Amino acid sequence: MEDPHPPSPSDPPHPKLRARAVTRTFGRAAGAVHALGPIDLDIAPGEFTCVVGPSGCGKSTLLRIAAGLLRPSSGELGIRTAARRPVAMIFQDYGIYDWKTVQANVRFGLDIQRVPRKEANARAKDWLTRMGLAEFAGAYPTALSGGMRQRVAIARALAVEPEILLMDEPFAALDAQLRTILQDELLTLTQTTRTTTLFITHSLEEAIVLGDRVLVMSARPGRFIAERRPPFPRPRSGQVRAAPEFTALKSELWELLRAEVGTEAAA
Ligand SMILES: Nc1ncnc2c1ncn2[C@@H]1O[C@H](COP(=O)(O)OP(=O)(O)OP(=O)(O)O)[C@@H](O)[C@H]1O
Ligand SMILES: [Mg+2]
Repeated sequence: MEDPHPPSPSDPPHPKLRARAVTRTFGRAAGAVHALGPIDLDIAPGEFTCVVGPSGCGKSTLLRIAAGLLRPSSGELGIRTAARRPVAMIFQDYGIYDWKTVQANVRFGLDIQRVPRKEANARAKDWLTRMGLAEFAGAYPTALSGGMRQRVAIARALAVEPEILLMDEPFAALDAQLRTILQDELLTLTQTTRTTTLFITHSLEEAIVLGDRVLVMSARPGRFIAERRPPFPRPRSGQVRAAPEFTALKSELWELLRAEVGTEAAA
């Protein structure tokens, strides 16, 4: 069959993630919920893409399709990774295992990759140290605060040195201070590793600090209705929060989003 969406000359040469006309519907017939799409998306190597949108518009659905956890109802989503480097996902609810120690949680992806135990332990320790959790290696997640659990989830995702990182509101449950700290850490980290990232957030501020671009989604069924590129060169620091352009972009995005939240409330 002929490709209904052949690459156009403006497409990036080899996107790491490429979605074409992706939709997702849950359920059948009268009770069906059209959750997402159609969505077209290209993410270039090393690019940090943020997605904002009203609650229930299909953001997690998109991420789960990208992670291969859910099939699109129509359309295609492809991920291109070199060598054997994996795709890692951080879930909205962290997705860490309460019955495994912190160390075993961080080692989890490495165990799946069959990294030898000694090396896996060393890498897990290293990431726990970077996340300020070294002394909790032997603890169980139930003994940790929300912020610490979240750092375990981040350490676990990054320990596998993923080529693509999919993050679903990873900082949503944290207090403002810790959130800012972790945003800055993630900024430094992704700029060092140039990890291709798709990041979902409710926070416009977070999206502007972190993103090479911010995509705004409509109310359900979620489609992309706008794209903005924060005008801050890389390497970037958290100081951009104080820039006048930052406030201006935040207001502009909020206006776009407010129209969609209004739609949703009226529906
Ligand atoms: N497994 C499922 N079965 C049925 N409906 C689902 C399922 N998963 C999601 N939905 C529905 O699809 C829509 C989009 O859900 P999704 O979780 O993707 O939204 P979201 O944008 O991530 O929302 P939030 O910002 O609140 O996390 C919602 O109406 C939701 O009820
Ligand atoms: Mg969600």
